[in-house]
Amino acid sequence: MSGNLEQFLTELSRGLDKTMVSVNKEMTLKTRIQRTWSMRQCARFLNVSVIYLQKFSRQNEDFPAGAYVGRERVFTVHELMHMRALLAGSAKRPYDYLAWRKREDPLPVISFASQKGGTAKSLTAAHFAQYLSLHYGMRVGIMDADPQSTLTLYFVGGEGLSAMPTQNTPSMVDFAGLFASNEAPYIDHEPAVLDRFFLKTQWPGIRLVPAHGETSEGEIQIARLVSERPKGKAFYRYLRDAIERWRDHHPPLTAPQDLVEEGRVNKQKLESALNETLDCIIIDYQPALTLFQLNNIIASTSLVIPQTMKGFDIATLSTFVNGLLGMIRQILKNERLDIGAGANMLLPTIVQRTNNQDINQIANLLEYCPAEVLPVFYLRSDSISNASDMYQSVYEYQADTPGKRKGIDRFIENADAVNDALISRLWPGLERGYADQWMDAFYQDDGEDA
Ligand SMILES: Nc1ncnc2c1ncn2[C@@H]1O[C@H](COP(=O)(O)OP(=O)(O)OP(=O)(O)O)[C@@H](O)[C@H]1O
Ligand SMILES: [Mg+2]
Repeated sequence: MSGNLEQFLTELSRGLDKTMVSVNKEMTLKTRIQRTWSMRQCARFLNVSVIYLQKFSRQNEDFPAGAYVGRERVFTVHELMHMRALLAGSAKRPYDYLAWRKREDPLPVISFASQKGGTAKSLTAAHFAQYLSLHYGMRVGIMDADPQSTLTLYFVGGEGLSAMPTQNTPSMVDFAGLFASNEAPYIDHEPAVLDRFFLKTQWPGIRLVPAHGETSEGEIQIARLVSERPKGKAFYRYLRDAIERWRDHHPPLTAPQDLVEEGRVNKQKLESALNETLDCIIIDYQPALTLFQLNNIIASTSLVIPQTMKGFDIATLSTFVNGLLGMIRQILKNERLDIGAGANMLLPTIVQRTNNQDINQIANLLEYCPAEVLPVFYLRSDSISNASDMYQSVYEYQADTPGKRKGIDRFIENADAVNDALISRLWPGLERGYADQWMDAFYQDDGEDA
């Protein structure tokens, strides 16, 4: 068939819109976290024994009722959050149940970035955000910096964003104030306006600044500002300034132990506490090193580089690291800035344990950069595709056959270990030991294979 490119793209775009509508509405959005967890699973999330939780449930009238699937009592993610608040209400150490930021604590801004495409940046970011909610009750702000909107797809379908965003939905570009108005080349939004850019998801306490095609405008706007050089802001500070402005006006106010009154969780208080502040911000990147991405890195306290370990991957990684290093050095010449004051690390991903090249690359990296490389990593898994096809994490996905269940459970173990390793560096002392258990098993199995 002949024609022209415009016509081809128009037809394809129309067809894709229709396809997306049916995929999102019929499959993904309708089933978005309807999943439930057993008492045993909740006890693990809460880091208590199941016997303790059962006893606690009998002694507390306000313990969530749950629902019965066959003979098993199961709970939603909202009921899990309710349990946390109830437990915190009578605990000696309430922050064990809701690991919320205190007033004097810094706000971690954690970036998942690499220049190479398809290295599991979005998967890692989505699983980490959900892990923080499930295991710690943290309030997580997610920012999607990728016009491909992968991370947005994991979270769309909530109260604040019931369908895929349109080009009018505020994205990170708006958050950073990068759309020019008649009055000014950029906008320093009021803190309350910035807070409204975080949209509620179906996860209690997780809010999202979504991405869409127009998010790529960020790059064009910054390039324009670099050439126009308006007074007042360096070209790398748009996001950093906006986050700091938001942060200073949205401190943590409610303590976990204040949520319970006369033995019952004050639901309104819990809901408002879940949205009054954030315990950390997570940013997912597009595979590139652009000025917009540089702005995001300058706004971050931690950089996590998810990276695959195939032949050319280390060369790509090296390009990214050196490119970024050059940019950071240039900025530091201009201004004494604290950049990446938290933990920074390289996370190997989609590692094939039977592939010698993968394992050798990791061994070399661990030898030459023992402090920079995480010794726990994401292994390649075939069963992840069942969940990713629905833009669901393994935490959300409910497998319908025992075979799929087994593969997903293995991946959950892997994800828990990676997330626990990230926690051990980002919030030392808060880790639960899943990373150590995984390493013991992995390196022992390896010995047996040899
Ligand atoms: N451990 C794994 N095993 C198998 N497949 C995986 C694994 N991790 C991620 N994938 C798959 O690899 C693909 C890319 O993952 P993801 O979208 O998270 O990468 P990304 O780095 O964010 O990509 P992009 O650079 O396009 O933003 C997805 O199809 C995902 O399901
Ligand atoms: Mg991605």
